[in-house]
Amino acid sequence: MKILGIESSCDETAAAVVEDGVRMLSNEISSQVDIHARYGGVVPEVASRQHLLAIIPVIEQAMVKALTDWHEIDAIAVTHGPGLAGSLLVGVSVAKSIAYAKGIRLVGVNHLEGHIYANWLAETSPKFPLLCLIVSGGHTDLIHMRRHGDYTMLGHTLDDAAGEAFDKAARILGLGYPGGPAIDNAAQQGKTCLALPYSWMSGTHNFSFSGIKSALYRMVEENKIDNVNDAAASFQQAVVSILVSKTIAAAMECGACQILLSGGVASNRLLRQRLCQDSPMPVLIPPPVLCTDNAAMIAACGYFRLQAGVTSGMDIDVIPGFQLAKQPLS
Ligand code: KG4
Ligand code: ZN
Repeated sequence: MKILGIESSCDETAAAVVEDGVRMLSNEISSQVDIHARYGGVVPEVASRQHLLAIIPVIEQAMVKALTDWHEIDAIAVTHGPGLAGSLLVGVSVAKSIAYAKGIRLVGVNHLEGHIYANWLAETSPKFPLLCLIVSGGHTDLIHMRRHGDYTMLGHTLDDAAGEAFDKAARILGLGYPGGPAIDNAAQQGKTCLALPYSWMSGTHNFSFSGIKSALYRMVEENKIDNVNDAAASFQQAVVSILVSKTIAAAMECGACQILLSGGVASNRLLRQRLCQDSPMPVLIPPPVLCTDNAAMIAACGYFRLQAGVTSGMDIDVIPGFQLAKQPLS
């Protein structure tokens, strides 16, 4: 079964063709990073307009690269939330139009669920029950997954998402945008010598990163930082230590047999290395290109949704605040 995936929830316009949920035939991404860099963050109205310009060429390119004709496409999977409303609308409208015009089935996909399914595009398929840490620009969620489509949220961030914290810390340190890769690179040349406060949120699976970021801000204001690379390394060390130990603790507690890592921050080199090194159970992490936003993960997820008998009608709408699983009371 060949599925065309379409993703436009934030600042990447992406299309991909995936076979049977696991074999990537193409994966095209048009990034708006350079456009938003001058504003220091994503400008929603600019993002929507760029999606409009890029989406048709990106889809055409994905079809050409996959050597696939329209009559071979069995379904279109499209991200319909969470994300920026105007950005989501572009992908969903285009997906609906093509599905209607060509008589192809449509399936709406939750973007976070898509991030998890990036792991099915790797050589080894994940095994249940598993624990997934989703770390992106907008989310830091610990999800217990017992089978396809069955998610329980064990913990989440109470303030900044990990990616958001990386982006803000990079801005504080004058390292530019996007902040995650900038901190990752600067940290390679730095020492972890700054004393930053670690908020463990003990007794819960929740996270909090705003205190670490504020402490860094105060150090900059008080001229206490001599070396930006050391500051980046110390900040990264703090965030990664918390992510790694809380993820392992949650996985042990829920009886997971594997840990999956996904979302843009999963490209972070220290996080990848530390999680694999410290975990007592196997860890699966997609290659960096499948950690950040892409459409192959949406097509992979769409396949498993279709296998479960789920399809969407022409009335499918965008859900900017779409949740994957109910957040625990805490
Ligand atoms: O999943 P993603 O591409 O988009 C969202 O769904 O949010 O994640 C983007 C986030 C940004 O905050 C970016 O700074 C962060 O992922 N990121 C990284 C790295 N690469 C991207 N954070 C830390 N280290 C990286 N190497
Ligand atoms: Zn994402």
